[in-house]
Amino acid sequence: MRCNFVISLTRNMLDTDPPDHERLRALVSKAFTPRLIERMRPRVQEIADALLDAVQDKGEMDLIDDYAFPLPITVIAELLGVPSEDRNKFREWSDAAVSGDTTQEYVEKVLLPHMQAFTDYLRALFDEKRENPKDDLISALVRAEEAGDKLSEDELLAMVFLLLIAGHETTVNLIGNGMLALLQHPEQLQKLREDPSLIKPAIEELLRYDGPVETSTERFAREDLRIGETVLPRGEMVLVVIASADHDPERFPNPDALDITRTDNKHVAFGKGIHFCLGAPLARMEGQIAINTLLSRMPGLQLKDSPESLAWRPGMVLRGLRGLPVEF
Ligand code: HEM
Repeated sequence: MRCNFVISLTRNMLDTDPPDHERLRALVSKAFTPRLIERMRPRVQEIADALLDAVQDKGEMDLIDDYAFPLPITVIAELLGVPSEDRNKFREWSDAAVSGDTTQEYVEKVLLPHMQAFTDYLRALFDEKRENPKDDLISALVRAEEAGDKLSEDELLAMVFLLLIAGHETTVNLIGNGMLALLQHPEQLQKLREDPSLIKPAIEELLRYDGPVETSTERFAREDLRIGETVLPRGEMVLVVIASADHDPERFPNPDALDITRTDNKHVAFGKGIHFCLGAPLARMEGQIAINTLLSRMPGLQLKDSPESLAWRPGMVLRGLRGLPVEF
């Protein structure tokens, strides 16, 4: 099987050091500024309402399948210019990409064929945008690639792959983990229902309390390093456990309590430094709209199953539920 596409996919900003990192990030950073993202608010609200309209009469739903997943994938697909009716294909492909399963059987039978299908799909889409450019991010990136000096074809592929995956695999967990946390803390949920303007600090607290990304991507020590009692030799791989840092009792008083009015809440759910999440303004806005819309439209919302029976997706980097059955 041809697998040089796997190498192509790593040519993205998250896996790159300066100066390539700055060049790649600069190509898309303007599309994700808080001001531009704010303009998308009415459309995100429309998507959230349409998803709830579709389940309103049923009295129950899977909060992940019916709401938390389709919302961000529709938004990022529209922003990039990917047909959103293909979103279920992405779910399968990106599930494989982030599964963390490295057994030979999985890699050969699932991961590589899925990645091949994903890259074939994207290459065909790029050809279409070359022929028939639209006012979307992929058309702009294809133009940059054609100009020659800013973006290679592999980098174009890696960029769109990263944006599609990062654009929904995380936000689905902000909505899913966030709603689970609120449903398990009815007094906090009630506070937010009574005062929806608390949504901004509430989202920050939900990001801190049970954030979508558990560990950072890998880093390598450039020099021998001492952190507390631990010495890391030069070249050693390091994974930062974001979930642990965000429950550090020296940084956050009473860290295991959920408090949507918490102040001084500088968490690291979006990372830190040059790789700080590009999509943070978009993710925050989507989370705010998704949760407030659910609470205002579904006053009787409650868990259908006990929290202990819920299944979590495997893997070290992302933390998210497989499903979240609720009734309302
Ligand atoms: C709540 C949702 C999200 C969370 C918690 C999150 C978290 C993170 C974290 C922790 C990193 C840094 C990883 C590391 O340093 O190893 C990161 C990077 C990144 N995120 Fe997000 N993310 C979210 C949503 C999004 C969205 C909606 C997009 C949309 C495009 C996005 C795009 C990116 C990109 C492109 C990077 C790489 C930035 C760089 O390397 O300069 N993220 N994200």
